[in-house]
Amino acid sequence: PRKIIIDTDPGQDDAVAILLALASPQDLEVLAITAVAGNVPLHRTSRNARVICELAGRTDVPVHDGAEAPLRRTLVTAEYVHGKSGLDGYDLPEPTMPVASLSAAEAIIHHVRREPPGTVTLCPLGPLTNIATALMSAPDIAERIAGIVLMGGAYFEVGNVTPAAEFNIYVDPEAADIVMKSGIDITIMPLDVTHKALITAPWLEGMKALGTHVGDVVCSWLDFYERFDIEKYGGAGGPLHDPCVIAWLLKPELFTGRRINVEIETQSDLTRGMTVADWWGVTDRAPNALFIGDLDASGFFDLLSDRLGRL
Ligand code: BDR
Ligand code: CA
Repeated sequence: PRKIIIDTDPGQDDAVAILLALASPQDLEVLAITAVAGNVPLHRTSRNARVICELAGRTDVPVHDGAEAPLRRTLVTAEYVHGKSGLDGYDLPEPTMPVASLSAAEAIIHHVRREPPGTVTLCPLGPLTNIATALMSAPDIAERIAGIVLMGGAYFEVGNVTPAAEFNIYVDPEAADIVMKSGIDITIMPLDVTHKALITAPWLEGMKALGTHVGDVVCSWLDFYERFDIEKYGGAGGPLHDPCVIAWLLKPELFTGRRINVEIETQSDLTRGMTVADWWGVTDRAPNALFIGDLDASGFFDLLSDRLGRL
């Protein structure tokens, strides 16, 4: 199996992504989960990551605490989407598993140095603070990392937190800039693709029909989570952003995209955190990321039902 580290700010969609990974041990070995402040403050994202591991019966996966705040900005959170806990919708017991001793950045450095070069993939599902911190304190790890597959940014879909920016990049644009300039092989799941991964009522009914505890919990979380998008955009269903990252690792054939140059706006107040994506190749800036634009939504939801049904 491919070795991954999930860096996350759960978040109901982060939770589904983590469950998808934990349900796929034949494909993915989760070396660690590293928590970051984002959707809610760090003490809640750390707690939620441990709640999710316990729900999946995987207390063997270490959960590390990371950054409490972005590199140079005040933390912006999204309780209006995810609820006060970050994981509103189903009350699970408080976790009993401990927080692992290394910090998130230390854990990333430790695993990347210990495993053979080119074998560890980082999967950031929140602001990129922990990843940038690890790269700044141990620049040698960049060439050992197999790749980074992240959820963040947008091009045609532009922004969800400001008119110009997607939440994960907006919260810590300086960190995103460091990651984009790292020279590491990067795959980006922007809003352009995640807004095509819309939860449907029949899919939720299928989850419920699994008759499992995990199926019930996922349904209740997503019922809560998607109310925001439905109220706000009046659309079909909420977008399952973060699970796209894990689905890409499991079935890349579900996705299509382009290798392009992506730069991060860090200066302007108006467009802070914008991913300036050269989709049409109008500059001579070298491509630094595979920017995903489309997915086979029915294949994606079939994969989710199949794997979550195994938990
Ligand atoms: C991203 O922001 C968070 O609210 C979600 O968990 C996802 O990672 C979408 O913009
Ligand atoms: Ca997230």
